[in-house]
Amino acid sequence: MNLPAGTAKKAYVTRMFTGLSENYDLVNSICSLFIDHTWRIRAVRALGKASRGLVLDLCAGTLPLSFAFLKRARGTIVAVDISEGMLRTGIRALHRKYRPDRLGAVCGDGELLPLKNQTCDGAMVAFGIRNLADLDKGFRDVYRVMRPGARLVILEFSRPGNPLLAFPYRLYLKWILVPVGTLLTGDRDAYQYLVKSIEAFPAPEEVAGKLRKTGFSNISVIPLTGGIVTLYTAERI
Ligand SMILES: C[S@@+](CC[C@H](N)C(=O)[O-])C[C@H]1O[C@@H](n2cnc3c(N)ncnc32)[C@H](O)[C@@H]1O
Repeated sequence: MNLPAGTAKKAYVTRMFTGLSENYDLVNSICSLFIDHTWRIRAVRALGKASRGLVLDLCAGTLPLSFAFLKRARGTIVAVDISEGMLRTGIRALHRKYRPDRLGAVCGDGELLPLKNQTCDGAMVAFGIRNLADLDKGFRDVYRVMRPGARLVILEFSRPGNPLLAFPYRLYLKWILVPVGTLLTGDRDAYQYLVKSIEAFPAPEEVAGKLRKTGFSNISVIPLTGGIVTLYTAERI
């Protein structure tokens, strides 16, 4: 498959995640051997004191990062996702398992956030920025809604630098993740998109450069699990 770009990517991603929404959490956990929970806990911890205030969960999906936050932090969440189906699945779980009064969910575009300037004490995104049609635009809009001094935390897939890990990881993506994801969801295209989007995504130094260009400072880039995932933190000036 060829990766879509621009508005075609936005439409494709919205349709794809809406189709996956019922199975997303289970498949995600199986394909990451349940390590994804620990990555999200790291992300919530990285928010520091921002976690006591109002925090944006961008590309919130079925709300797994919001739930990690509700369990471990005291603040409130505004969760934004472009797929209403993903949010609806998350909201059903929210009412079953958590206190819904600490979370508000809005269906909207992360590149044109339905929030006023400088409203959030923190912002977090897990496995979402790779799916934005225009990453620079997304970073600019997150910056706009953050208060001065607020912290941004990002989790995103990356490619391990060590060749001893890079080769088996590529084999895992192609020969395990795609077939298992396809078997569990019936959507081969979605898992081919996942692999291609990981392969095509800018390297961590380039992502950090984009954050710097947006105006963020104190940027840190921390590889997790051998660099399969990268945790970024940055502060709005
Ligand atoms: C891989 S899921 C991540 C969900 C969740 N954050 C997690 O930790 O698993 C990516 C999400 O990004 C959302 N998304 C993609 N493009 C978006 C955009 N332009 N604005 C808001 N959400 C978007 C998708 O609908 C999907 O729910």
